[in-house]
Amino acid sequence: MKFMRTHHCNEIRPADENQQATLVGWVQSSRDHGGVIFIDLRDREGITQVVFKPEDNAELAKVSHQLREEDVIQVTGTVEKRLKTAEVDTTNAAIATGEIELVAQELVILNKAEVLPFQLDKELSNEDLRLTYRYLDLRRPRLTRNLKLRHKVSKALRDYLDDQQFLEVETPILSKSTPEGARDFLVPSRLQAGKFYALPQAPQQYKQLLMVSGIERYFQIARCFRDEDLRSDRQPEFTQVDMEASFINQAEMIELVEGLLANVFQKALGVDIPKSFEQITYKEAMNNYGSDKPDTRFDLKLIDISDVFATSEFKVFSGALKKGGVIKAFNAKGFANISTGQVEKLTQLAQENGAKGLAYIQVRGEEIDTWRSPITKFFTPEELTALKEKLNIEAGDLILFGADDWSSVCNVLGTIRLAVAQMQGLLEGNTDNNFLWVTEFPLLEYDKETSRWHAVHHPFTRPLDADLEKFKAGDYEGVRAQAYDVVLNGHELGGGSIRIHEQDLQSQMFEALGIDKEEQELMFSHILKAFSYGAPPHGGLALGLDRLTMLVCGEQSIREVIAFPKNNKGMDLMSDSPATVDFKQLRDLRIKSTYNPQQVEAQPQG
Ligand code: AMO
Ligand code: AMP
Repeated sequence: MKFMRTHHCNEIRPADENQQATLVGWVQSSRDHGGVIFIDLRDREGITQVVFKPEDNAELAKVSHQLREEDVIQVTGTVEKRLKTAEVDTTNAAIATGEIELVAQELVILNKAEVLPFQLDKELSNEDLRLTYRYLDLRRPRLTRNLKLRHKVSKALRDYLDDQQFLEVETPILSKSTPEGARDFLVPSRLQAGKFYALPQAPQQYKQLLMVSGIERYFQIARCFRDEDLRSDRQPEFTQVDMEASFINQAEMIELVEGLLANVFQKALGVDIPKSFEQITYKEAMNNYGSDKPDTRFDLKLIDISDVFATSEFKVFSGALKKGGVIKAFNAKGFANISTGQVEKLTQLAQENGAKGLAYIQVRGEEIDTWRSPITKFFTPEELTALKEKLNIEAGDLILFGADDWSSVCNVLGTIRLAVAQMQGLLEGNTDNNFLWVTEFPLLEYDKETSRWHAVHHPFTRPLDADLEKFKAGDYEGVRAQAYDVVLNGHELGGGSIRIHEQDLQSQMFEALGIDKEEQELMFSHILKAFSYGAPPHGGLALGLDRLTMLVCGEQSIREVIAFPKNNKGMDLMSDSPATVDFKQLRDLRIKSTYNPQQVEAQPQG
């Protein structure tokens, strides 16, 4: 059979009047108007109305009468303009082809469709059902649009990086674990019985080794695998736009990524974004917004009020200060009328994030006796006056407090800040794209439980030049990294750093992380050795392609921009994977597998 498609379903316009055209696609809907059959024919590009007129071809009209939703057909006919007079208007402004219709002369039914498990033209809240029939779900125009935009984003990235002399190089999927902080997925090896490959959490070490190879500028649209708990912006397998360059400094890397994102937003959406983004340090981000990926589309800044309560009667506050902690608060302007239920919800959220409570003041009027609060009774008039001034308190405001160690207060109030913004509807109708760089992350973080230092980014990240000597002296507390994250509207789009390229410095970093020389030899000898053969200074960054595309598409979840995502339990409901494996059946079917139950039992747990 020959599929002679002359046009797609979003192509024919009034200028094509009287021409012959052949379309193929799916029957979106079919209507019978007194024997005349109207079909909305859909393909990837859009919809065209097809008309079967019994007065022109009675036999054909009869056949068309059997067409049902989602049947696949091929139609040939003549393009006619739809009737539009002062009295009658049959045009449809909702679709681009709405001024014409195709009057059918030939119809081939290519395949009949059963009734679908759900309607395609209605939003479906049951995501599991959508994912079970993902191949049908993807027929919805919104998802088709998302996949098209994803393609445009990828193409814009590739074109830009190609222009900037980056080479696209593939790196192994069957590889060795990289310490990116998540659990690895392991694959048993058949040829090396008892040994495992790890699926890459990121191509971090490979891309650095490519710099040692003299590739100078590398990129890859790279699949990454992390066995983490899932969220709306996290999948166990996801895609990074992974980049690395030699002889580059932080400012140059930042400029490159700004240009890259500008090209993506221009090519995918026709939107111009700022040429350069604001840069704030990790400290500023945490202090002001309580997050290392702050959403700066609204203010609600956290304010340190520790000095106001230095001698407070209120034990929660003075107790926190005595232990070396801080007191912070923010003013949710105009939100004094928050409901009791909402207060409870926020308090619960604070507690889930490790706070003991969430003190608040509902500033109902000018006078203090109109204020509603479980804590103001503990405050002196001087404290109240100072508080009023520091937080610019006016009638109608809601003040929320946190008292604890610095990082807990920042984290808790940062979470509450986002929840309040959502309750207040501060972002409704907001179309801003607030790009931001967060810099000067701490290099290492001390974990009291394990009494060990951990890399905040990863162990290949270079200390800030100003802190290098401090690091070399083994004084790790407060050492900052040459690391940078790019943030858009409260989402971490990407992260990167300038790397360590000296063998001794890298070895010291491993040592700092509690990896002794013997373990270094076992796990990292390749990269340590490589650094001894002339490694250039280098740095890079990886963008989350799924997150970037999600934001370009205006979606709330990366699942909406991935063709076949896993659900929030890490399952592919369509193919029912992961699945149990019946080895006897596999053998009977002569399906070969490298899996050996004895080997897998040897796999480390936890
Ligand atoms: P990092 O771990 O910060 O850096 O990852 C880079 C970006 O990848 C995205 N991302 C994810 N997207 C979806 N699901 C996930 N589970 C997930 N995890 C991460 C985020 C994140 O910003 N090798 C370093 C980069 C470098 O230093 O060059 C790395 O992987 O958008
Ligand atoms: P309490 O004296 O523990 O009943 O707490 C008095 C008020 O302070 C309550 O509204 C608590 O929710 C709140 N609160 C308790 N601990 C903290 C804390 N660490 N930070 C902020 N508010 C708190």
